[in-house]
Amino acid sequence: MNTETVALDEIRTRAIEVLRLNDLGTMTTAAPDLYPHQWSWDAAFVAIGLARFDVPRAITELRTVIDAQWSTGMLPHIVFSDDDTRYFPGFDRWGTAGAAARPEGVRSTGICQPPVHAIALRHVVDRARENGGADQAAAESFLRESFDGWYAWHRWLAGVRDPEGVGLIEIHHGWESGFDNSPRWDGPYARVVPGDVEPFVRKDTQHVGNVDERPDDAEYTKYLWLVQQMASVGFDDELVERTVDFRVRDVFFSGIMAAASEVLAGLGEEIGRHAEARELRETARRFRDGVASTVDPDTGLARDYDVLARQWISTATVSGFAPLVAGGDADLLDRQRSLLQGPDWMGHPSLRFPLPPSTSPSSPAFRPRTYWRGPVWPFLNLLLGWAGARNGQFDLDEQLRSVSLQQLSDLAFGEYYEPLTGEPLGSLSQAWTAAAALEWVGQTTSGPERRP
Ligand code: SER
Repeated sequence: MNTETVALDEIRTRAIEVLRLNDLGTMTTAAPDLYPHQWSWDAAFVAIGLARFDVPRAITELRTVIDAQWSTGMLPHIVFSDDDTRYFPGFDRWGTAGAAARPEGVRSTGICQPPVHAIALRHVVDRARENGGADQAAAESFLRESFDGWYAWHRWLAGVRDPEGVGLIEIHHGWESGFDNSPRWDGPYARVVPGDVEPFVRKDTQHVGNVDERPDDAEYTKYLWLVQQMASVGFDDELVERTVDFRVRDVFFSGIMAAASEVLAGLGEEIGRHAEARELRETARRFRDGVASTVDPDTGLARDYDVLARQWISTATVSGFAPLVAGGDADLLDRQRSLLQGPDWMGHPSLRFPLPPSTSPSSPAFRPRTYWRGPVWPFLNLLLGWAGARNGQFDLDEQLRSVSLQQLSDLAFGEYYEPLTGEPLGSLSQAWTAAAALEWVGQTTSGPERRP
């Protein structure tokens, strides 16, 4: 056994321990202390990791996500566990108890996150088929049983969050993007002027090494103001759009929407849902085109659009690589790949590991220790690698995988990493970081047939 194999075995063993540590039975908490609930897009990545060693548990994770679906089709961004002590804002503060579309008995928030779920389901079905037997039967049966739910989710996003059919998803809170305090949202948040926000005490800052790793109090006040605005109209889709002070077309969310709609179409075809699959392929095309239409010809990066201010958002963040995730035009994908591997991103000379920071180190907005303002997020590298392989950019996938595994051999499974020093930050034992590690180790040991 060579050194690399020993290291990979150890990463795998420790990553499984992290997922077990976060396992509450029907949901995996995003992290042991900081995030003691199930987050929607975290759960999708967690399912990808679980599928590498426990297909039935991966199915359970996705079942919990779909069981929390609102009657509109929306999948809420947090499904709360019974632990009401360690996270703020909890179920009560969200004010979703009175929301008409929330299913009885499900404690959730009233906003969503990017739809990675179909991509996760694809992974679970593929791993289950490799295993055969009971795993295969369970995954195929889950696909048939849950397909309508995932389809309704994509229809809700396409209809309610892109009513004009521009191929871009509108979000109503930075938390919906998953990139909470990214500098891409500084402009829109600068225009949010909170009214009377109910008093609050944060809990997140108690769970990190240094408060500077988290969004600041002024940012949090705005986050809570938006929650309060949405709660004031019962999280009704139409009323929220008319009420809320944050309305942005999120290009990265839209890139995921394009990719996942294409994947869901493929899954639908496998079970004879041809009409739905045709519609999903059309949705995928619409969002690929929408994402491509935002690319700034000068920088080559995709941009978000601030609906209320009627302005493009051009900050150099990793969301600019949304076309790589969406797929599409070969020339655009080539240009994006060169940019990503170039000196402003993975090839920046100051980086500890050549991995994409969440904000370009060449940008004045870069802050290497603060949450979405600079750190490297491993789960994102898994998504970019998956998309790279799907695009035929195997060198990119290979670089992201092998370098990420070097980074994660510290066995801390950090929420995010300081890009200049390689230090793990935020929460340790973060579930989706462990899941990404498991997927990369599995790909490494199963060889070239892993390509999508
Ligand atoms: N990521 C957010 C938090 O930090 C919530 O979605 O609490």
